[in-house]
Amino acid sequence: MKKILFLASFYLAVSTQAQVTHFKYNNTKNITVNKAAVVSAHTLASNAGIAVMKKGGNAFDAAIATQLALAVVYPGAGNLGGGGFMVAHTSAGKNIALDYRESAPAKATKDMYLDSARNAVTILSMEGRLASGVPGTVAGLFATLKYAKLPFSTLIAEAITLADKGFALTKAQAEDFNNSRSVFLRNNKNKVAFVRDIQWKAGDILIQTELANTLKRIRDFGLKGFYEGETAKLIAAEMSSGNGIITEKDLKNYKVKERVAMQFPYKNYQVITMPLPSSGGIILQQLFKMTQQKKLDSYPFHSAESIQLIVEAERRAFADRAEFMGDEDFVKVPVKTLVSEKYLKNRMADYVADQAGNSSNVKPGQIKESEETTHISITDAEGNAVAVTTTLNDHFGSKTIISGAGFVMNNEMDDFSVKPGVPNMYGAIGNDKNAIAPGKRMLSSMTPTIVLKNNQPYIVVGTPGGTTIPTSLFQSIINIVDYKMSAEDAVNKPKFHHQWQPDVIYVEKDFEKSVQTKLLEMGYKITERGTIGRTELIKIEKSKKSNNKIVITAVADKRGDDDARGY
Ligand code: DON
Repeated sequence: MKKILFLASFYLAVSTQAQVTHFKYNNTKNITVNKAAVVSAHTLASNAGIAVMKKGGNAFDAAIATQLALAVVYPGAGNLGGGGFMVAHTSAGKNIALDYRESAPAKATKDMYLDSARNAVTILSMEGRLASGVPGTVAGLFATLKYAKLPFSTLIAEAITLADKGFALTKAQAEDFNNSRSVFLRNNKNKVAFVRDIQWKAGDILIQTELANTLKRIRDFGLKGFYEGETAKLIAAEMSSGNGIITEKDLKNYKVKERVAMQFPYKNYQVITMPLPSSGGIILQQLFKMTQQKKLDSYPFHSAESIQLIVEAERRAFADRAEFMGDEDFVKVPVKTLVSEKYLKNRMADYVADQAGNSSNVKPGQIKESEETTHISITDAEGNAVAVTTTLNDHFGSKTIISGAGFVMNNEMDDFSVKPGVPNMYGAIGNDKNAIAPGKRMLSSMTPTIVLKNNQPYIVVGTPGGTTIPTSLFQSIINIVDYKMSAEDAVNKPKFHHQWQPDVIYVEKDFEKSVQTKLLEMGYKITERGTIGRTELIKIEKSKKSNNKIVITAVADKRGDDDARGY
């Protein structure tokens, strides 16, 4: 009987994935399928990815189609005017790390956000035209195309229809547009699609004609449809209509960089993740190693002991981020040392169980040798796994929409260290390693990650959340590997975060109060905050019961409109 009930609920979980139309859809949070899955921040974007795989595409086709759809249906973070990272593991066993992070324009200078008294004017790195780096996303999509199977025109078709004919807004999106109205008006001279005279409500249809025309130019002229010609002219004109400095030449010069993916073992698993200019891969590796050295798995899940250990590792990793990390094409970063067992053992030498550490005592490690985001997890029937994190930085980026082209520009320049010691919008500080220089890429925390088991993709995972990205990702992975949780619990259990400065543990509101009390007794400061991350996680296993059949569990974070789709 129990078995029948289980089978029935399994059948329901899959079969209740209701038919999606652009004007009527519901999200699905947790599915179990056998061939392919896409998890993203929006139902219509996950749906676009699944549709191209059903047409014969692979996970790379889905990554392109999903990102393009997100640029239309999730404009707060999905983007054409931002940048991102892709980490993939192909069915042939190859690891890929694509860096399509924004770069500083040629006219950028180290002190561009300082006033005459050398005080940081951080509003300028956060809002308006001067806050934007040269966007990388469209170049990233074309760099991904070489691993895909279908023509680009097929992959972009759904995004064009969504922009041209419109789609229904969710309640959260309608509220978001209403709340952002004044900031849009402040930063745009011409009419933008997200602003109207009456309040938005759930179910209203958003049509984005200018964006549709930009997408058509990209369809018809490829890279040149964005980085040259009319779109490039519209971007440059928007910039010079205010204090922006991005020129047509900056756009033409933009290049994707194919990096060597960071790979390291954790227990019986291999973790594949993003190297610099993301700090995330290094931080993740440091966290795994420091906590394993101190036997994290001997303490129960969310016990004060396990949290203390993770927090102390996080404190040290973020001190190192601030001191040593930046774009390696411009500055020297001692990556090998930062992730070596010996160095990390030393880092934790002053760790005292039951007693809070102190960020003014914990300095960055001594090294003698010479520094609005959204995530997509995808797996396909061929065995490819793709993890993409892409961003405008803040919600709706710089809040400036390119007039005539209809897309939001990033405010990624704020991820540089605008002045040593001055925190960015996520409270992260830095120094000259992450100082602004023309062409340089700002340090990121985005950490698209794939965990292999027996050399096959086992977990595909990532999240938005600024500096909380590597720490909440770390928790999702240990929840599965060390605490043997279901994928759903691994994503949805409360998360916490420490980043050296400020010296405080951030916890989500539903974080167990009795554990908070114990941590306070140890001497920690605790701040409750809103949600941490929106993790999209896929777990791929072989069923022991039915002939090693592939079982894919895809989980969309409960914290947003996120949606898991598959077949
Ligand atoms: O690259 C970074 O680390 C940031 N620009 C990411 C921003 C982010 O995750 C915002 N999402 N909540």
